[in-house]
Amino acid sequence: MARVFVSCVLPGDAVDRLAREHDVVVGKERVGVGSDAFVRDAATFDAIVSLFNDPIDSALLDRAPRLRLVANFAVGYDNVDVSACAARGIVVTNTPGVLTEATADLAFGLLLSTARRITEGDRLVRRGIFQGLTPSFLVGAPVHGTTLALVGLGRIGQAMARRARGFGMRVIYTSRTRAPLDVERSLGVTAVEMDESFARADFVSLHCPLTPETRHLVNAARLAGMKPGAILVNTTRGAVVDEAALAMALAQGPIGGAGLDVYEDEPRVHPALLGLENVVLAPHIGSADRPTREAMARIAVDNVLAVLAGRAALNPVVVARG
Ligand code: DGY
Repeated sequence: MARVFVSCVLPGDAVDRLAREHDVVVGKERVGVGSDAFVRDAATFDAIVSLFNDPIDSALLDRAPRLRLVANFAVGYDNVDVSACAARGIVVTNTPGVLTEATADLAFGLLLSTARRITEGDRLVRRGIFQGLTPSFLVGAPVHGTTLALVGLGRIGQAMARRARGFGMRVIYTSRTRAPLDVERSLGVTAVEMDESFARADFVSLHCPLTPETRHLVNAARLAGMKPGAILVNTTRGAVVDEAALAMALAQGPIGGAGLDVYEDEPRVHPALLGLENVVLAPHIGSADRPTREAMARIAVDNVLAVLAGRAALNPVVVARG
């Protein structure tokens, strides 16, 4: 029987399944690997089920010499120092595939909500400001017939493209590697250079992972290169956007709005964003529908069970050396 630290309570019965085979310790919500149970007994754990906001760095790994696996309950794994794990022979896994549609749903919801000022309207109605329709009241930006630029055309980017095509949008994309022609054709998307895509798009939606190369990819210069009135949507990681520059561009132009699910320093939101009406602020709920979250837990646990039984990880993001 191995010892497994699970960052916090997970949806569904996956952790119960794990507990039938191993000694499971569950940490405190929002504290994760900072929980007393981990801090005190780090050296005893063979595996960790971590959340995207658990920093799995060298300092933590040094305190956990028995560790064989980090199963991240997320598709993104920028919180894990994968090189440090590889150097110690620790397998890292993530939860790809199962949150694609849920995250694209939320991204498209943010796009619609920002363009058509839905949450802003909700606030006005609640404050009793809605006195009946006038032709210029809460006029927003059109969605159908406009151009969406995707940064990244992985699973979630592709799911976003399908939604956009259903709404009669043109879709252009920029990506580290160009998609195969049959994928471009079936999605009806066109590859363009990054700066051109920002200049042409009415909406830019971010679907690239956070890496050293994509940190602050959307900076003051890129924001300045966007079309007047264009809208930025971010459901990937907050640090892909320079939040201070975004707040400035939202307040002073050229961009018209932003729909955000993620923040540079979560859960802190840049104070300048909080005062703006033209930004929709969601609390990192991209993957938050019940079947998706249960599937993420199932995948994380299946990876733990496989590796602890001496089998290969099902969703490795790095192959352990040696
Ligand atoms: C992910 O899976 O990367 C989501 O952002 C949830 O953390």
